[in-house]
Amino acid sequence: MLSNPDPRQATNPLFNDNKFKLGTFATNVSNGCAITTIDGVFETTWPNVMKLAKIADEAGIEAIVPVARWRGFGGTTNFNGTCFETYTWAAALGAITKNATIFATSHVPTVHPIMAAKQATTIDHITGGRFALNIVCGWYQAEMEMFGAPIMEHEQRYKYATEWLYILKRLWTEDSEWELEGDFFNIKRAFHQPKPLQKPYPALMNAGGSTTGRHYMAKNCDMALILITGHDLDTTRREISAYRDLAKYEYGRDIQIWTNCYCVIGDTEKDAYDFLDYYVNEKGDWAAVDNLAINLGVQTEMLPKEAVQSFKFHFAAGWGGYPLVGTAEQIADKIETLSRLGLDGTLMNWPRYEEGLCRFVAKVMPLLEYKGLRQPFRQP
Ligand SMILES: Cc1cc2nc3c(=O)[nH]c(=O)nc-3n(C[C@H](O)[C@H](O)[C@H](O)COP(=O)(O)O)c2cc1C
Repeated sequence: MLSNPDPRQATNPLFNDNKFKLGTFATNVSNGCAITTIDGVFETTWPNVMKLAKIADEAGIEAIVPVARWRGFGGTTNFNGTCFETYTWAAALGAITKNATIFATSHVPTVHPIMAAKQATTIDHITGGRFALNIVCGWYQAEMEMFGAPIMEHEQRYKYATEWLYILKRLWTEDSEWELEGDFFNIKRAFHQPKPLQKPYPALMNAGGSTTGRHYMAKNCDMALILITGHDLDTTRREISAYRDLAKYEYGRDIQIWTNCYCVIGDTEKDAYDFLDYYVNEKGDWAAVDNLAINLGVQTEMLPKEAVQSFKFHFAAGWGGYPLVGTAEQIADKIETLSRLGLDGTLMNWPRYEEGLCRFVAKVMPLLEYKGLRQPFRQP
């Protein structure tokens, strides 16, 4: 159970007092989250990664979160195909940032739990206690099968992830040596020093959407990352409460609930929507969107046409995120609505990251402070 305030607050801004927290998403994969052929989308070079991390870090944005990806989705752009591995990415960003929480996103079947625990501990020390781990099971068959084993069946993935995380937690917290003959791992004389700086261990996030995934997250993690599927506010409020209540009443835990938003800021509302229309409807990479839909198991022929169109539109616009589109004032109002619905924070992505992030920091963040959703950031 999380105590209040969480002791990790001393080093990890995920536990700060800001009512609504912010993060950047996907600055380790080509195109970021926008499945479009426009120029100026995120290109996976180390200078680009560093530049965006420094802007976010100096603005007091709480989280910098990568995507776990090993191959792209084809189309003209081979969307996300050029991608950096996330523990090494996080370690290096940890060394050049001072404030933000740096995440790794870990596909559990691709890394042995002893290695994952050690990498996480190392990055926790590099960052001075600002590391967090986003745990994903893997659903993209072609990328998981690159590792030479068939992709696990859905329920089996979470059984594996449960034993995997059990091992990490024991390594992070137990001083004496132990043995495990599990369903998936045999561990002999387990030993792990140093321990992470964060106690009991670094913050954990999961984005499970299925019933099993939600239970995994509610039982084990500090943060749920959820997609807001419909944009009807009452339904969204109920969905958010359902996540929080599951953690609270079934597992006696308080968790944070975050979502993912795509962000298009215009001088006018019309400018913002015109640009959205341009990069999605005119310049969308629809072959890549189709591949993504197939791999996500979206049964396009079984769903009503409108639902399929809406799914594809929001995925092309920003990985199915909630739309923050409009003027800076309108975007601040939309974020206030997300906060009122019960969310604790959002990851954000932009069609053109540097321009979008700079505009967000300059124009939207002061409005969020004015609304009382955030405190002005001061370098410690
Ligand atoms: C905002 C968001 C980010 C995600 N990031 C990744 C990722 O980086 N890599 C990945 O393989 N899966 C990612 N996922 C997929 C989830 O881990 C999960 O597999 C998916 O939401 C389906 O839930 P389920 O596993 O409970 O069926 C993400 C999901 C969401 C909603």
